[in-house]
Amino acid sequence: MRVGLDCKVVVLTGAGISAESGIKTFRASDGLWEEHRIEDVATPYAWQKNPQLVWDFYQKRRSQLLEVEPNPAHRALKRLEQYLGENFLLITQNVDDLHERAESENVIHMHGELRRLRCEGCGEVFEMMDKASLTEKFVECPSCGNSRLRPHIVWFHEMPLMMPEIYEAVENCDFFITIGTSGHVTPAADLIHIAKSCKATCVGINLEQPLNYDVHDIFHQGKAGEILPQLVEKWLSS
Ligand code: OAD
Ligand code: ZN
Repeated sequence: MRVGLDCKVVVLTGAGISAESGIKTFRASDGLWEEHRIEDVATPYAWQKNPQLVWDFYQKRRSQLLEVEPNPAHRALKRLEQYLGENFLLITQNVDDLHERAESENVIHMHGELRRLRCEGCGEVFEMMDKASLTEKFVECPSCGNSRLRPHIVWFHEMPLMMPEIYEAVENCDFFITIGTSGHVTPAADLIHIAKSCKATCVGINLEQPLNYDVHDIFHQGKAGEILPQLVEKWLSS
């Protein structure tokens, strides 16, 4: 496989790329996410029914960002972006900030970001990671002042962000690379079908075979932090 400077590369990452940094993936063997059922903490209904539980849950995830570091897989993607420049797009389903902290620049967070909070009333989004915004107390909107902020996270039954930009990039790429994602959640899991129908070469790196394993042209099984740095070096030197 040769990745030249003129190749367009779209990468889709999931929870598996952050696993080696110490962030738990979603579909662990017990079916629970950090001891909660996903529907109790990650739906608009859960927020309506028990906002304190949902707030506390996400505040823990937000605080955890201060304790984790990017791993070699995040850094390998930065290296690929440095080489390809504008021909590189990183789409992540992850809500952590490890890609940014590895200095990736062209990143779309299709499921939102833990670093940000959004006003339930006026919709404004704020980047907030100061101490006052990391407690169990709800935070009021600094802009309109009469509504509460909620996590800027795409919950189940909500629309992922920036889909027109994502579809355009996927339809026009030469290589589509999935890393650390189980292929359970659409529309992210369907992007590979679009890439494939537009003649991209589809490459996968994952600890286990994802649901859409068969659609990949090339598949590397193992840990992203071990496999990806070597692969990127190989792609860039061949
Ligand atoms: P999953 O938890 O479903 O899948 C993570 C995948 O990473 C699994 O297939 C693991 O085998 C693999 N994996 C684990 N460790 C790895 C490693 N070190 N290297 C490579 N692969 C590894 O996570 P996602 O596919 O990201 O949505 O889940 C998609 C969405 O479902 C999430 O964005 C989240 C969740 O509900 C929202 O929060 C909206
Ligand atoms: Zn507001």
